[in-house]
Amino acid sequence: MKTILMTGAAGRIGTFMRAELPGKYKLRLSDIQPIRDLKPGETFTRADISKMPDALRITKGVDAVVHFGGQSGEHDWEHIHSANIVGFYNMLEAARRNGVKRFLVATSNHAVGFYPVKQKIDHRVYPKPDSRYGVSKVFNEALSSLYADRYGMEMFCMRIGNVNREPIDRRRLGIWISPRDMAQLVTIGIERPKIKFEVVYGISDNKRAWFDNANARRLGYRPKDRSEPYAKAILKREGLPGKSPADIFQGGGHCMSEGGTRSRLAGESGGKAPAARKANAATSRSSKRAPRR
Ligand SMILES: NC(=O)c1ccc[n+]([C@@H]2O[C@H](COP(=O)([O-])OP(=O)(O)OC[C@H]3O[C@@H](n4cnc5c(N)ncnc54)[C@H](O)[C@@H]3O)[C@@H](O)[C@H]2O)c1
Repeated sequence: MKTILMTGAAGRIGTFMRAELPGKYKLRLSDIQPIRDLKPGETFTRADISKMPDALRITKGVDAVVHFGGQSGEHDWEHIHSANIVGFYNMLEAARRNGVKRFLVATSNHAVGFYPVKQKIDHRVYPKPDSRYGVSKVFNEALSSLYADRYGMEMFCMRIGNVNREPIDRRRLGIWISPRDMAQLVTIGIERPKIKFEVVYGISDNKRAWFDNANARRLGYRPKDRSEPYAKAILKREGLPGKSPADIFQGGGHCMSEGGTRSRLAGESGGKAPAARKANAATSRSSKRAPRR
């Protein structure tokens, strides 16, 4: 049985994956936060990926890395830089030094968030990040490409839409992925032979998707879930799209973010900064409600 390192295992996707993957792998879970509810087949090693010695320690003796650790939405540059630039570099370099070839990257729809929702894009488009967070994901993809070409690492980059039990708003009707479909994609990333460098979209079988996910399909991905059964209720609740950037571009609210302001805009942490208030006034009902991703 393969031993898989999963970073960010205390986070949202990590928790979903732990519920979806039991018995398939020996899971070495890691996070800067503790995990106390370990199940059979799981071990936990605390690590801060912004520190190279920690990255070297956790990547020793594993068959593949599933890298979910890091800053998972827009924030100030210091957070993004430490977790998603330095942290990502450390993880990839540590895997290379420890001889771990297979590496799954949790990149994001926000790497291409400034494409309009009316445009269908595939995995070959030039990046159009919508935020500092999106830029960090473009960096992740670029470094992955370098390590594939330069060092023969096997890089599987998942441009994830939004993982949740169900789609929560109009935008997520396009980019939603269910936990079980996400687990299928992760399994393909771990198991599929002869991966060099691939970019796939992490979405379910969504009629309203603006991603052409042919590359994932080519690699064997057959999503089981669809967002369409949720569409009627969501569209009734939200009405027609507005004219703000959050409605026009694929990245939604991230396209209007300024550093970490977007999180406060969504009412997630404390009061609103002045810049956030201004942006908020211009944001449509749907995007105001939207959480980070
Ligand atoms: N959830 C989504 O729908 C979604 C969509 C697109 C991309 N992604 C990406 O997938 C990954 C996981 O997302 P998530 O929703 O589970 O995020 P999350 O914020 O719930 O989890 C991220 C985890 O990383 C850990 N972490 C942060 N900094 C760290 C550090 N320096 N060292 C070690 N661990 C650290 C956090 O403690 C947290 O548990 C992220 O890279 C995110 O950008 C997620």
